[in-house]
Amino acid sequence: MDKTILVTGGAGFVGSHACKALSQAGFCPVVYDDLSNGVRDAVRWGPCEVGKLEDEARLAAVIAEYKPAAVMHFAAFIEAGESVREPERFYQNNVAGTLSLLRAMRAHDVGKIVFSSTAAVYGNPKFTPIPETHGLNPVNPYGQSKLMVERILGDVAAAQGLRFSILRYFNAAGADPDGELRENHQPETHLIPLVLQAAFGQRPDIAIFGTDYDTPDGTCIRDYVHVADLASAHTLAVQRLLAGGTSLTANLGTGRGFSVREVIDAVKAATRVDIRIRLADRRPGDPAILVADPSRAARDLGWAPRYADLAQQVQHAAAVLAPSR
Ligand code: UFG
Repeated sequence: MDKTILVTGGAGFVGSHACKALSQAGFCPVVYDDLSNGVRDAVRWGPCEVGKLEDEARLAAVIAEYKPAAVMHFAAFIEAGESVREPERFYQNNVAGTLSLLRAMRAHDVGKIVFSSTAAVYGNPKFTPIPETHGLNPVNPYGQSKLMVERILGDVAAAQGLRFSILRYFNAAGADPDGELRENHQPETHLIPLVLQAAFGQRPDIAIFGTDYDTPDGTCIRDYVHVADLASAHTLAVQRLLAGGTSLTANLGTGRGFSVREVIDAVKAATRVDIRIRLADRRPGDPAILVADPSRAARDLGWAPRYADLAQQVQHAAAVLAPSR
């Protein structure tokens, strides 16, 4: 069986961890990334082809050269707030870019794709935990762009027999347990690395965005899922497609939620630093609670998160983000 997998966005946070997992499972990941957010140093398990998603000729040439058995598609803009300010850029990159990829795949008979989607497709959930059958109502262009691609994949599957795995991540967290890869978002907007920066004295405090939510301690609750567990789910998803499995849409979360205050407490415990907290207004568009029902991924992919423990996720992130490194 051909073991080459094209990984768009393979130099990014989740993509680079997926390449490591693919390599450990015996695959050869070929990264296609424009290095706008990803870093070349994170590409360690196969070739790095630098190119833009919308450069269809280049993508087609890379596919023709490596003849991948399937594609993992991570390349996308991901910051929800930015998507509200610059929707055209998001739709161009995330939607038009995916159309280029699908045409290039079709031209070279690559008919299997694992797509990086998000819990943002659910918008403000009506109930929790959230199963895949929950209504889809994204509240920002980022979530819209991911939902558009989900629908495009469904249509292309019906028309041409493409097979897909759509994986909807909840809050990606943690870091490579071996410390080989580090999260690198600039500017950083995600809670756990921001709290760690406050603990390491790289920022004066951590703002809590809203303390009057209808949750036990008044702060938002999220389902944090370790990046190494996201990576293992992608490997299982591609193995399933290569073994002839049908198309699938699955949540990736642990099924357990933690509040912003609980995250701050976990960072305090891991670093033994008393972090300064600033109470701030709610951030527009933040639902009170986002927790996955992950039972479909367990049943259909045989996936079980190995690092569901928040303390362990924080420890792994702290180990790679600590300034002494
Ligand atoms: N938060 C703070 N202070 C901060 C940063 C975040 O209180 O300085 C809070 C947020 O309000 C939220 C929680 O911490 O309640 C987590 O925020 P993140 O920005 O880390 O993550 P989000 O839940 O906003 O977003 C994540 C992904 C998105 C995805 C979304 C829905 O980063 O890509 O989940 O699945 F769209």
